[in-house]
Amino acid sequence: MLSKQTQLNNLDEQMANCSACILRKTCSRVVFGEGSAEAEILFIGEAPGKKEDELGRPFVGAAGKFLDEMLGIINLKREDVYIVNVCKCRPPQNRDPLPEETAACWPWLLEQIKIIRPKLIVTLGRHSMERFLSDKKISQLHGTLVIKTIPEIGKQNFYTLYHPAAALYNGSMRKTLIQDFKKIPKVLEKIKTD
Ligand code: URA
Repeated sequence: MLSKQTQLNNLDEQMANCSACILRKTCSRVVFGEGSAEAEILFIGEAPGKKEDELGRPFVGAAGKFLDEMLGIINLKREDVYIVNVCKCRPPQNRDPLPEETAACWPWLLEQIKIIRPKLIVTLGRHSMERFLSDKKISQLHGTLVIKTIPEIGKQNFYTLYHPAAALYNGSMRKTLIQDFKKIPKVLEKIKTD
């Protein structure tokens, strides 16, 4: 049995050659994601922005700095968790990914989840939440634990957050996001003891 890290490396190699949608034609590189292969928490964002596309790493711009700060509040570093996006290639001008683009990336995301097998998936923003919990509203769901069976991965714990980029310059959303983020350790503890 290959280690989780080796499986992720193999997947990364395959993903680099993806041509399932048009985004690969305009982006600089596929942003696979990063973190600990043994992570208990998997953060799933939307899509790479300009900086992520340049550096090939997720959440390294302003939203990423904010995410790092919030991880610090709960005594975690990005090396302790795993961070990916729903869409692995940067949409031009940072437009929202189209449904066919996130659909094209879905099998890659599922493979990442199946390898990492996180105890908790934290969705960042509406696009990420909708991939898994499509009939729900983020304004109602943020800060709550949802257990849902996804056919390809089985029973999974989800925790929904507002997107750090959306909350960055919006005082009340920022406050809510930080409050929700601070609850993550308790949510994880509950999952482990239930
Ligand atoms: N926003 C995202 O959703 N993902 C990134 O990687 C960066 C910004």
